[in-house]
Amino acid sequence: MTNVLQSIKMRSHFCGELRAADKGSHVTLCGWVNRRRDHGGVIFLDLRDHTGITQIVYHPDRKESFALAESVRSEHYLQVSGQVGLRSAATVNPNMDTGEIEVLGESLNVLNRAKTPPFGLDDHSDAGEDVRLRYRYLDLRRPQMQQRLRTRAVAVGAVRRSLESMGFIEVETPMLTRSTPEGARDYLVPSRVRQGDFYALPQSPQMFKQLLIMSGMDRYYQIVKCFRDEDLRADRQPEFTQIDIEAALVDASEVMAFTEAMLKAVFLEAIDVELGEFPVMTHAEAMASYCSDKPDLRNPLRILDIAEAMRDVEFKVFRTPAGDPRSRVVALPVPGGASLSRKAIDDYTAFVGRYGARGLAYIKVLDRSAGVEGLQSPIVKFLGDKAALKLRDDCDLDTGDLVFFGAGGVDTVNASMGALRNRLGADLGLIEDRWAPCWVVDWPMFERAGDGRLAAAHHPFTQPACTPDELRTSPETALANAYDVVLNGHELGGGSIRSHDRDMQRAVFEVLGLDDAEARHRFGFFLDALEYGCPPHGGIALGVDRLAMLLTGGESIRDVIAFPKTQNAVCPLTGAPASASEEQIAELGLDKHG
Ligand code: AMO
Ligand code: AMP
Repeated sequence: MTNVLQSIKMRSHFCGELRAADKGSHVTLCGWVNRRRDHGGVIFLDLRDHTGITQIVYHPDRKESFALAESVRSEHYLQVSGQVGLRSAATVNPNMDTGEIEVLGESLNVLNRAKTPPFGLDDHSDAGEDVRLRYRYLDLRRPQMQQRLRTRAVAVGAVRRSLESMGFIEVETPMLTRSTPEGARDYLVPSRVRQGDFYALPQSPQMFKQLLIMSGMDRYYQIVKCFRDEDLRADRQPEFTQIDIEAALVDASEVMAFTEAMLKAVFLEAIDVELGEFPVMTHAEAMASYCSDKPDLRNPLRILDIAEAMRDVEFKVFRTPAGDPRSRVVALPVPGGASLSRKAIDDYTAFVGRYGARGLAYIKVLDRSAGVEGLQSPIVKFLGDKAALKLRDDCDLDTGDLVFFGAGGVDTVNASMGALRNRLGADLGLIEDRWAPCWVVDWPMFERAGDGRLAAAHHPFTQPACTPDELRTSPETALANAYDVVLNGHELGGGSIRSHDRDMQRAVFEVLGLDDAEARHRFGFFLDALEYGCPPHGGIALGVDRLAMLLTGGESIRDVIAFPKTQNAVCPLTGAPASASEEQIAELGLDKHG
């Protein structure tokens, strides 16, 4: 019977498998030449496959195979046979799993030759990302990339096992569909048979997953590709993968509980880590103490609101925003920060400037016992002695400490001081070596978009935490029954309990400025479905790429995607996107619309 676990016709073992106990065995290995070394008449080949590397030795007395061994180059693909022998004590390599043995090469079969690779395939290769992506099939041969994709696969397997054990079933939803309400730009696909019409690729399966609950699936999940044409960053790709989940009859705490159970199972299986508690904080608390809706709790630095104490000071930079509800005045105390140089402070000032901050005031405490004389700061003269000392005490500053200040519009202060907190945590080596998950709950239902209009902070199917009438009268203060899961300062996932009631859904559309006709045009099929006995329900979606990046210590989600796109949404390997032929364009009727 054929052994389905290994390709045993071509090889007897993997390259990372042999140990001292295999001494004397006759083996056949297949793999790439990692390195070839000529050592005074003896040739050493390091043969590599996805499990590791084995050293093969060829002596000149085996003329034919020795000559072949001399001719092979890096990345040639070989089949070799020989006997396992122990290395001499002096040549044992404790850094290699197979470092105690070598294979005394007998036959050598060059299964395929290779051109000289454009970059070295060791983990320290300094090839630029563009060339790595262009030759991604070579880049993926590197052990580090192998490990990342394999850990990702284990994680996804653990997700499936965990969700299925909790009663979720996987259902696929269409890729050729209508525009979804996630707020990014759509990727459109022209229809040939209905010229002038377009499918949209899904930004998420949001409406389909709710429809599946209305269809009686009770607990649905899907590992699913989503498409968003938005500005790309290290943690954003135009196509990415979600763990998409929806369940009937759940409240927020139940969604949070099964999501936590799933993430704990993933961490245990993929990297043998036991995740601890997931603290829960409100969105308002997160913004107050961290100036961020995805706080990195490994960073001990905290932000304090000081508007109250700044209302009556002379310093206008602080006093004006202190009296304006759309502004904030905050302090960021940095223990030991008095040793920061003038140049370092100038750099941080330029850094917050990138987020729109107009300056970065600070106070250094050089000697606490010396009162105001012990403070060094460009703003004490404007603040007055009393206010300066009160700030020192409110921020609990001791000799050697420093406090930074941010004042201005809420969004600018949050963006700049949140980023400064992260940057200082990293620069000063304060980030604790642990996993820090948390939940952020009680999100605002709406936010002001760039054009000044109200937009759904999550999406319009999220259930507000108030009545439809309260929503209509004060939409800006309305909270949503929504939650995000955050890990080490990254937004890993987000979800909500959904409106299953037509009146509430209508109120949300009204606030968004969508009249009945427009709502029907965009979501009519979905609104109809809500009228046929829809169970209360809710769900969440988590980014698989971000999860895999965190599990493997990667710096970008491109590190855990086999064939990612660049910052310009281009694939250097295939050259996508590419032009289409005139025939294709004519067939789609696009020539008539140009
Ligand atoms: P949301 O838009 O928050 O929610 O997306 C959920 C998670 O998907 C990941 N993600 C991305 N990953 C990589 N590249 C991107 N461009 C990208 N965009 C999003 C993030 C994010 O937390 N339908 C809702 C979920 C729900 O309500 O159930 C949704 O899609 O990790
Ligand atoms: P100025 O009066 O603009 O010279 O600023 C005096 C001090 O306050 C300088 O140290 C500035 O960096 C700082 N500063 C100015 N604007 C802000 C602001 N919006 N937030 C925090 N600090 C500021």
